[in-house]
Amino acid sequence: MTLLRDEDLTAAFDHAARGYDTLVAANPGYHAQLRRSARRLGLPRGGEGLRVLDLGCGTGASTAALAGVLPGARIVSVDASAGMLARAAAKPWPARVTFVRAAAEDLAGAGVEGPFDAVFAAYLLRNVSDPDAVLTTVRDLLVPGGRLGVHEYTLGGRRADRAVWTLVCRGIVQPAATVLGDGELYRHLWRSVVEFDTASRFADRLRANGFDAVRVLPLPGWQTGITHTFVGRRPRTGNGAEG
Ligand SMILES: C[S@@+](CC[C@H](N)C(=O)[O-])C[C@H]1O[C@@H](n2cnc3c(N)ncnc32)[C@H](O)[C@@H]1O
Repeated sequence: MTLLRDEDLTAAFDHAARGYDTLVAANPGYHAQLRRSARRLGLPRGGEGLRVLDLGCGTGASTAALAGVLPGARIVSVDASAGMLARAAAKPWPARVTFVRAAAEDLAGAGVEGPFDAVFAAYLLRNVSDPDAVLTTVRDLLVPGGRLGVHEYTLGGRRADRAVWTLVCRGIVQPAATVLGDGELYRHLWRSVVEFDTASRFADRLRANGFDAVRVLPLPGWQTGITHTFVGRRPRTGNGAEG
């Protein structure tokens, strides 16, 4: 199969929305790991007065992580899939959380404007057609010194990392997703990870797109070597693309 992109990917997520939270619940630590990545943004405790963008919020798991870690922050949560977004918006949220349907490639067209103190993207960037363009947009939405947090499946580069990823996908995720009628999306999931950047390449990509203070942090449990948190910062001066 080829990778799903743009409208095809959005349609697949629309269809998968109904079973998404069930599949996620079968992954021990999914929510705790999102909260860990949200804390790794290193924002002032509580996030009072801050404005944070959750890009690719899905059914709201990453939004819940941000809302829990940053109880004082205003959060704008964006997703291209109406189905995923409807599931998210149907959950109980404090008034400081808002949802907007938008593609990461056209945030301005949907009225999503900066500045933000932080942008968080969990399991998104591997899915977009042009991650560099999205990263540049995100950098420009941040205040100088603003933080980017990326929580993503990015293999660590050891052969064992790919083997574990393949075992988990073929042995657990794909059979369960096939029962739910979402086999194609979860075959895309496997392939999108093996074809995407390794963790160190993705860190280089962040630097090349103008982020500084880039760090790559592992996550515990079976996802060690498979999922990483990346944190970076819009430089305090200049556009970050120089040097
Ligand atoms: C794997 S889900 C992750 C959802 C959530 N962040 C979480 O941690 O559970 C990826 C989400 O990204 C969204 N997405 C994929 N490509 C997108 C794009 N180009 N613009 C906006 N959202 C996109 C999908 O619709 C989907 O809801």
